[in-house]
Amino acid sequence: MSNLMRLQKFLAAGGVASRRAAEKLIESGRIKVNGRVVKKTGTKVDAFRDKIEVDNCIVTLAEKKRYYLLNKPRGYLTTVKDPFRRPTVLDLFPEELQKGLFPVGRLDLNTTGLLLLTNDGEIAFRLTHPRFKIKKKYLAKIKGIPTERDLQMFKKGILLEDGYTSPAEAVVLSADNGNAQLLITLYEGKKRQVKRMCKALGYPVLSLKRISLAFLNLGGLRQGEYRELTPAEIEKLFVLTGLKK
Ligand code: URA
Repeated sequence: MSNLMRLQKFLAAGGVASRRAAEKLIESGRIKVNGRVVKKTGTKVDAFRDKIEVDNCIVTLAEKKRYYLLNKPRGYLTTVKDPFRRPTVLDLFPEELQKGLFPVGRLDLNTTGLLLLTNDGEIAFRLTHPRFKIKKKYLAKIKGIPTERDLQMFKKGILLEDGYTSPAEAVVLSADNGNAQLLITLYEGKKRQVKRMCKALGYPVLSLKRISLAFLNLGGLRQGEYRELTPAEIEKLFVLTGLKK
Protein backbone atom coordinates (compact mmCIF):
# COMPACT_ATOMS: atom_id res chain seq x y z
CA MET A 1 0.00 0.00 0.00
CA SER A 2 1.31 3.43 -0.82
CA ASN A 3 1.32 6.03 1.91
CA LEU A 4 2.55 8.95 -0.17
CA MET A 5 2.31 12.41 1.34
CA ARG A 6 4.05 15.75 1.11
CA LEU A 7 7.18 15.97 3.23
CA GLN A 8 5.99 18.94 5.31
CA LYS A 9 2.70 17.16 6.03
CA PHE A 10 4.61 14.07 7.15
CA LEU A 11 6.79 16.15 9.47
CA ALA A 12 3.74 17.86 10.94
CA ALA A 13 1.94 14.54 11.42
CA GLY A 14 5.07 13.17 13.08
CA GLY A 15 4.94 15.99 15.64
CA VAL A 16 8.16 17.63 14.44
CA ALA A 17 6.76 21.10 13.78
CA SER A 18 3.78 22.90 12.29
CA ARG A 19 3.49 22.62 8.53
CA ARG A 20 4.86 26.14 8.05
CA ALA A 21 7.78 25.53 10.38
CA ALA A 22 8.40 22.17 8.67
CA GLU A 23 8.71 23.94 5.31
CA LYS A 24 11.41 26.15 6.84
CA LEU A 25 13.23 23.08 8.18
CA ILE A 26 13.16 21.54 4.72
CA GLU A 27 14.42 24.71 3.02
CA SER A 28 17.22 25.07 5.53
CA GLY A 29 18.56 21.61 4.66
CA ARG A 30 17.87 19.90 7.96
CA ILE A 31 15.71 17.10 6.50
CA LYS A 32 17.04 13.93 4.87
CA VAL A 33 14.97 11.41 2.93
CA ASN A 34 16.64 8.04 2.56
CA GLY A 35 19.97 9.52 3.50
CA ARG A 36 19.85 12.53 1.17
CA VAL A 37 19.15 16.13 2.08
CA VAL A 38 15.91 17.30 0.48
CA LYS A 39 15.37 21.05 0.26
CA LYS A 40 12.29 21.07 -1.93
CA THR A 41 9.01 21.47 -0.05
CA GLY A 42 6.21 19.36 -1.44
CA THR A 43 8.49 16.39 -2.10
CA LYS A 44 6.35 13.25 -1.85
CA VAL A 45 7.44 10.62 0.68
CA ASP A 46 6.12 7.21 1.61
CA ALA A 47 5.21 7.56 5.28
CA PHE A 48 5.94 3.93 6.13
CA ARG A 49 8.72 3.03 3.70
CA ASP A 50 11.01 6.07 3.40
CA LYS A 51 13.58 6.89 6.05
CA ILE A 52 13.06 10.50 7.07
CA GLU A 53 15.45 12.33 9.39
CA VAL A 54 15.46 15.71 11.09
CA ASP A 55 18.94 16.71 12.16
CA ASN A 56 19.86 13.02 11.74
CA CYS A 57 17.05 11.76 14.04
CA ILE A 58 14.57 9.38 12.42
CA VAL A 59 10.92 10.44 12.43
CA THR A 60 8.16 7.83 12.27
CA LEU A 61 4.37 7.97 12.22
CA ALA A 62 2.38 5.77 14.53
CA GLU A 63 0.46 3.30 12.38
CA LYS A 64 -3.28 3.46 12.68
CA LYS A 65 -4.52 0.67 14.92
CA ARG A 66 -6.68 -1.85 13.08
CA TYR A 67 -8.98 -4.62 14.35
CA TYR A 68 -10.54 -7.40 12.28
CA LEU A 69 -12.82 -10.31 13.02
CA LEU A 70 -12.24 -13.34 10.80
CA ASN A 71 -14.24 -16.54 10.38
CA LYS A 72 -11.31 -18.91 10.06
CA PRO A 73 -11.73 -21.91 7.78
CA ARG A 74 -9.98 -25.25 8.32
CA GLY A 75 -6.51 -25.66 6.90
CA TYR A 76 -5.12 -22.22 7.75
CA LEU A 77 -2.36 -21.80 10.32
CA THR A 78 -2.84 -19.17 13.00
CA THR A 79 0.50 -17.51 12.44
CA VAL A 80 1.91 -14.62 10.45
CA LYS A 81 4.40 -16.60 8.41
CA ASP A 82 5.05 -20.29 7.99
CA PRO A 83 8.56 -21.52 7.14
CA PHE A 84 6.98 -24.29 5.01
CA ARG A 85 4.82 -21.75 3.15
CA ARG A 86 1.57 -23.39 4.19
CA PRO A 87 -1.52 -21.13 4.09
CA THR A 88 -1.85 -18.80 7.07
CA VAL A 89 -4.80 -16.75 8.30
CA LEU A 90 -3.00 -13.67 6.92
CA ASP A 91 -3.47 -15.10 3.42
CA LEU A 92 -7.20 -14.47 3.82
CA PHE A 93 -6.52 -10.71 3.80
CA PRO A 94 -5.49 -8.63 0.79
CA GLU A 95 -1.80 -7.78 0.76
CA GLU A 96 -2.31 -4.11 1.57
CA LEU A 97 -4.02 -5.00 4.86
CA GLN A 98 -1.51 -7.65 5.94
CA LYS A 99 1.27 -5.35 7.07
CA GLY A 100 1.69 -5.38 10.86
CA LEU A 101 -1.34 -7.60 11.40
CA PHE A 102 -1.18 -10.64 13.69
CA PRO A 103 -3.70 -13.05 15.21
CA VAL A 104 -4.93 -12.60 18.78
CA GLY A 105 -4.46 -16.00 20.39
CA ARG A 106 -4.61 -19.14 18.37
CA LEU A 107 -6.97 -21.58 16.70
CA ASP A 108 -5.60 -24.97 15.62
CA LEU A 109 -5.15 -25.79 11.95
CA ASN A 110 -8.46 -27.65 11.82
CA THR A 111 -10.43 -25.41 14.18
CA THR A 112 -12.80 -22.99 12.50
CA GLY A 113 -14.50 -19.82 13.65
CA LEU A 114 -13.91 -16.51 15.30
CA LEU A 115 -10.40 -15.12 15.28
CA LEU A 116 -9.40 -11.51 15.91
CA LEU A 117 -6.46 -9.97 14.09
CA THR A 118 -4.90 -6.62 14.90
CA ASN A 119 -1.70 -4.59 14.83
CA ASP A 120 -2.35 -3.50 18.43
CA GLY A 121 -0.02 -5.47 20.71
CA GLU A 122 -1.37 -4.08 23.96
CA ILE A 123 -4.95 -5.19 23.47
CA ALA A 124 -3.84 -8.52 21.98
CA PHE A 125 -1.84 -9.19 25.13
CA ARG A 126 -4.78 -8.35 27.38
CA LEU A 127 -7.33 -10.34 25.40
CA THR A 128 -5.21 -13.47 25.73
CA HIS A 129 -3.98 -13.03 29.31
CA PRO A 130 -5.90 -15.23 31.80
CA ARG A 131 -6.06 -12.28 34.26
CA PHE A 132 -8.72 -10.65 32.10
CA LYS A 133 -10.88 -13.80 31.93
CA ILE A 134 -12.16 -13.09 28.44
CA LYS A 135 -15.06 -15.42 27.71
CA LYS A 136 -14.71 -17.72 24.68
CA LYS A 137 -17.40 -20.10 23.46
CA TYR A 138 -16.80 -23.19 21.37
CA LEU A 139 -18.96 -25.76 19.66
CA ALA A 140 -17.24 -29.12 19.94
CA LYS A 141 -18.37 -32.32 18.33
CA ILE A 142 -17.00 -35.17 20.42
CA LYS A 143 -16.86 -38.94 20.19
CA GLY A 144 -18.95 -40.30 23.04
CA ILE A 145 -21.64 -38.83 25.23
CA PRO A 146 -20.44 -37.28 28.48
CA THR A 147 -22.12 -37.99 31.79
CA GLU A 148 -23.34 -35.26 34.15
CA ARG A 149 -20.26 -36.01 36.27
CA ASP A 150 -17.97 -35.39 33.29
CA LEU A 151 -19.67 -32.07 32.64
CA GLN A 152 -19.15 -31.08 36.27
CA MET A 153 -15.42 -31.62 35.76
CA PHE A 154 -15.31 -28.62 33.42
CA LYS A 155 -16.46 -26.49 36.39
CA LYS A 156 -14.14 -28.10 38.90
CA GLY A 157 -11.01 -28.05 36.75
CA ILE A 158 -9.36 -30.79 34.73
CA LEU A 159 -5.74 -31.80 35.24
CA LEU A 160 -3.69 -31.34 32.06
CA GLU A 161 0.08 -31.72 31.74
CA ASP A 162 0.48 -27.97 32.38
CA GLY A 163 -1.76 -27.88 35.46
CA TYR A 164 -5.44 -27.61 36.34
CA THR A 165 -7.78 -25.69 34.07
CA SER A 166 -9.73 -22.85 35.68
CA PRO A 167 -13.51 -23.07 36.00
CA ALA A 168 -15.25 -23.52 32.65
CA GLU A 169 -18.67 -24.65 31.53
CA ALA A 170 -19.91 -27.41 29.24
CA VAL A 171 -23.43 -28.35 28.20
CA VAL A 172 -24.63 -31.04 25.83
CA LEU A 173 -26.60 -29.50 22.97
CA SER A 174 -27.38 -32.72 21.17
CA ALA A 175 -26.37 -36.36 21.01
CA ASP A 176 -26.77 -39.00 18.35
CA ASN A 177 -24.96 -42.03 16.95
CA GLY A 178 -22.73 -42.11 20.00
CA ASN A 179 -21.43 -38.57 19.39
CA ALA A 180 -22.34 -35.37 21.18
CA GLN A 181 -22.32 -31.69 20.38
CA LEU A 182 -21.08 -29.58 23.32
CA LEU A 183 -21.17 -25.87 24.01
CA ILE A 184 -18.00 -25.13 25.96
CA THR A 185 -17.20 -21.81 27.62
CA LEU A 186 -13.63 -20.99 28.66
CA TYR A 187 -12.17 -17.96 30.43
CA GLU A 188 -8.54 -18.70 29.65
CA GLY A 189 -6.69 -19.95 26.59
CA LYS A 190 -4.20 -22.73 27.13
CA LYS A 191 -2.82 -24.36 24.01
CA ARG A 192 -5.31 -26.79 22.45
CA GLN A 193 -7.33 -26.49 25.63
CA VAL A 194 -10.72 -27.75 24.49
CA LYS A 195 -9.24 -30.81 22.80
CA ARG A 196 -7.03 -31.64 25.77
CA MET A 197 -9.87 -31.20 28.29
CA CYS A 198 -12.22 -33.43 26.33
CA LYS A 199 -9.52 -36.01 25.71
CA ALA A 200 -8.61 -36.08 29.42
CA LEU A 201 -12.22 -37.11 30.11
CA GLY A 202 -12.10 -39.75 27.39
CA TYR A 203 -13.86 -37.92 24.55
CA PRO A 204 -11.79 -37.15 21.44
CA VAL A 205 -12.85 -33.95 19.66
CA LEU A 206 -14.03 -34.59 16.11
CA SER A 207 -14.52 -30.96 15.13
CA LEU A 208 -14.21 -27.60 16.83
CA LYS A 209 -15.52 -24.12 16.10
CA ARG A 210 -15.13 -20.94 18.14
CA ILE A 211 -18.39 -19.04 18.00
CA SER A 212 -17.74 -16.08 20.26
CA LEU A 213 -15.12 -14.05 22.06
CA ALA A 214 -16.37 -11.66 24.76
CA PHE A 215 -19.43 -9.95 23.21
CA LEU A 216 -18.29 -10.61 19.63
CA ASN A 217 -19.79 -13.38 17.55
CA LEU A 218 -19.60 -14.48 13.96
CA GLY A 219 -22.91 -12.94 12.87
CA GLY A 220 -23.38 -13.58 9.18
CA LEU A 221 -19.69 -13.93 8.35
CA ARG A 222 -18.99 -16.94 6.19
CA GLN A 223 -15.84 -19.02 6.47
CA GLY A 224 -12.89 -17.12 5.02
CA GLU A 225 -14.64 -13.76 5.38
CA TYR A 226 -13.56 -10.97 7.70
CA ARG A 227 -14.82 -7.58 8.76
CA GLU A 228 -13.45 -4.58 10.60
CA LEU A 229 -14.65 -4.06 14.15
CA THR A 230 -16.86 -1.02 14.57
CA PRO A 231 -15.63 1.92 16.69
CA ALA A 232 -18.23 0.95 19.34
CA GLU A 233 -16.92 -2.64 19.46
CA ILE A 234 -13.32 -1.43 19.76
CA GLU A 235 -14.30 0.91 22.58
CA LYS A 236 -16.07 -1.95 24.37
CA LEU A 237 -12.99 -4.17 24.08
CA PHE A 238 -10.87 -1.35 25.52
CA VAL A 239 -13.20 -1.06 28.50
CA LEU A 240 -13.30 -4.83 28.98
CA THR A 241 -9.51 -5.06 29.08
CA GLY A 242 -9.01 -2.03 31.32
CA LEU A 243 -7.49 0.15 28.61
CA LYS A 244 -10.33 2.64 28.97
CA LYS A 245 -12.77 3.53 31.73
N1 URA B 1 -9.01 -25.34 22.01
C1 URA B 1 -8.47 -26.24 21.16
O1 URA B 1 -8.26 -27.38 21.51
N2 URA B 1 -8.19 -25.85 19.91
C2 URA B 1 -8.44 -24.60 19.45
O2 URA B 1 -8.16 -24.30 18.29
C3 URA B 1 -9.00 -23.67 20.33
C4 URA B 1 -9.29 -24.07 21.61
